[in-house]
Amino acid sequence: MTVQVAPSILSADFARLADSVRRVADAADLLHVDVMDGRFVPNITVGPMVVEALRGTTELPLDVHMMVAEPERYLADFRRAGADLITVHWEACTHLERVVSTIREMGALAGVAVNPATPVELLTDILPEVDLILVMSVNPGFAGQAFWPRAVDKIERLATLRGGRDRPLIEVDGGINSETARLVKAAGADILVAGSAVFGAPDPVAAIEAIRTG
Ligand code: DX5
Ligand code: ZN
Repeated sequence: MTVQVAPSILSADFARLADSVRRVADAADLLHVDVMDGRFVPNITVGPMVVEALRGTTELPLDVHMMVAEPERYLADFRRAGADLITVHWEACTHLERVVSTIREMGALAGVAVNPATPVELLTDILPEVDLILVMSVNPGFAGQAFWPRAVDKIERLATLRGGRDRPLIEVDGGINSETARLVKAAGADILVAGSAVFGAPDPVAAIEAIRTG
């Protein structure tokens, strides 16, 4: 099965964001937007205004990864801005089922992300209600970190939890390059996020293809 590749704009040139996105538009399957609030993670990045600006420059589905405390406060803003897929962190939601159903009621796909220390088995009861699980293969907050190898085992366990079905989709994020891509694909990942390996490469399109086919 071929995987999908979602370049993360976190490693793009923010002064030339539209150009960076246009450059990968034909090769990418989704565009991954890392939203960080300075609370759930130490870093601060972008909000709904940038999602709205991206919506005006690309037809790629916008995959919004909310590394945000109390994400329920901002779901409507991101949906209105044009997010197609909204992923919240398991660790940031007290009432996860409510958050997930709110995202779906807004007409977006709903994803749940897990940090490295959060076992995928905790997702058993929410699996039938989500469109995607995002397995973090770094601690969220920054691009360019080294891949956490135990994510491979987590993806395998998640694929088992899905029980032979192809939903929810399994996305993996952090430290993905053509080498680590091979490991997570073999484990069962469907969507691979890559920031520095794409936008830090001299040829981002070739980097996407290396991740997809490598
Ligand atoms: C990390 C972000 C990632 C990041 C990945 O907190 O969620 O999406 O952009 O960057 P790389 O691919 O460089 O690890
Ligand atoms: Zn991300």
